[in-house]
Amino acid sequence: MINRNYFISIFFLLLFPYFLSAQDNSNEYWYKNSVIYNLDVDSFYDSDGDGIGDFKGLTEKLPYLKSLGIDALWLAPFQKSPLKDNGYDIEDYYMIHPDYGTGGDLVEFMYEANKLGIRIITDLVINHTSDQHIWFQEAVKDENSIYRDYYVWSKERPDDYNEGMVFPGVQEQTWTFHPEAGEYYYHRFYEFQPDLNNLNPAVQEEMRKVMGYWLWMGVAGFRLDAVPFIIEDPYTGVEDPELHYDMVKQIRQFIQWRRSDALLLGEANVMPDENKNYFGDDGDGMQMLFNFFVNQHLFYSFATEEVSRLTASLEATKDIPENSQWAHFLRNHDELDLGRLSDEQRAVVFDNFGPDEDMQIYERGIRRRLAPMLDDTRRIKMAYSLMFSLPGTPVIRYGDEIGMGDDLSLPEREAVRTPMQWSAVKNAGFSTADHLENPVIDKGQYSYRQVNVLQQQQDPNSLLNWTSRLIKLRKSCPEIGMGDWELISTGSPHVLGIKYEFGSRSLLVLHNLSAASQDIVLQDNFQGYRISNSLENSKEKTGIRELQEFSIKGYGYEWYQLEN
Ligand code: GLC
Repeated sequence: MINRNYFISIFFLLLFPYFLSAQDNSNEYWYKNSVIYNLDVDSFYDSDGDGIGDFKGLTEKLPYLKSLGIDALWLAPFQKSPLKDNGYDIEDYYMIHPDYGTGGDLVEFMYEANKLGIRIITDLVINHTSDQHIWFQEAVKDENSIYRDYYVWSKERPDDYNEGMVFPGVQEQTWTFHPEAGEYYYHRFYEFQPDLNNLNPAVQEEMRKVMGYWLWMGVAGFRLDAVPFIIEDPYTGVEDPELHYDMVKQIRQFIQWRRSDALLLGEANVMPDENKNYFGDDGDGMQMLFNFFVNQHLFYSFATEEVSRLTASLEATKDIPENSQWAHFLRNHDELDLGRLSDEQRAVVFDNFGPDEDMQIYERGIRRRLAPMLDDTRRIKMAYSLMFSLPGTPVIRYGDEIGMGDDLSLPEREAVRTPMQWSAVKNAGFSTADHLENPVIDKGQYSYRQVNVLQQQQDPNSLLNWTSRLIKLRKSCPEIGMGDWELISTGSPHVLGIKYEFGSRSLLVLHNLSAASQDIVLQDNFQGYRISNSLENSKEKTGIRELQEFSIKGYGYEWYQLEN
């Protein structure tokens, strides 16, 4: 008897590590069926009336985000910063900007978000610091300081000093002479953002501490800023530098060691043949990358109302490791970057969505919000429904759920960073201050009096309520984030068809990019239930339908759960 119990105990003891790891990894793929929402703390909600959004304000608005249905929040940088590049010029990696609250406010926010089941992703900006960072200050003062090697220097002015700028038209060079240091320093971005020497092991050690700190504070992962520039060796030339892809894997390994389900979501606007270098051949690099390639071709397809370039870009980015995932988006906090299109294609998108010079930026992009560009609610809904049904994880930009506009009188990308429009009262209900650093949109059809949360909450047919139904629909279709997919010929050059399979489930999604109704002819005869009816809040009952020859209305979107 003793022997038997003894063996049973040993058996379960041996299985214990398996149970532990199974439990630990059960959520490892959480990012595959999530919806991510991106915001800047300073533009979301001001709780103390000083005119600047803060963590207490964001905490108050968590129920709003929860009711919208999002799973994860990606916060733009909120650390101490001179704020010359919207916080992407970090002065202290550990301290939050005093205007946004205290460390205590941040912890309260994390606690409340966690209670609601919302994960927090933060930006990780390690390509550069602000020139006000103590490391750079020390580095320029003394060439023997240990911080000198934290940055990238040259005694002579490199021949390519005025090439490789990320902000052409605004930024003049990538190597700038520093009078105090007596040498040139390297900066991919603005001159107040000196590049860190990420090949220096001491800098890598600092960055592990930064990541470790924020993971310990409870963040679920990082949006890794400017990845190709982090891993470049600037001494090998700015046009075609040597890239150290192994650094991406080291970062992934480190964060996963500290938190098993930690996510790395990379910003790397690269050509499709480079994707594997960032995902890693075995998926051991970044789990997610923004699909900039598809994004640009998507806007080209919106402009031409034809799907051929979009389908080509989807095929070109199809082959990725199994646990890797694309993040899809329509607009973000930067310009709509069209740098991967041909000159002719870019001209077509400019003509359609950013014809005035003032709408264009950095010789390659458009600094407008989605709603004014598409300028038709039917088209905006089609665009969102399409983006949510692309193979990957959708990312929404704050304010797009209510169709906010832009303010082109603001410099550069500030045009798309105006405060969230909560209601029709003063300052859009964002703040009670008399003066706002960052003004609200108060003129024209996108004014907060026309476009705001409160008004849309009360209208079942508003874009806000529609978006919330879209989020629900997307989350009820795990085949999109986790399944296999193929493009389906629809018989119309204007209609995109994607079919998904996941276990015993299959889904067909159709989107008509043109304003005119289109006839569809599918190669196979499918049968399915139209589940996108729920988006329109319609009372129409969804019966089983034969799907082979039918028509789809202008800017129509149709999602079908197929019967196998
Ligand atoms: C990334 C950010 C952008 C920022 C730049 C420099 O591209 O998206 O907003 O200006 O990095 O950090």
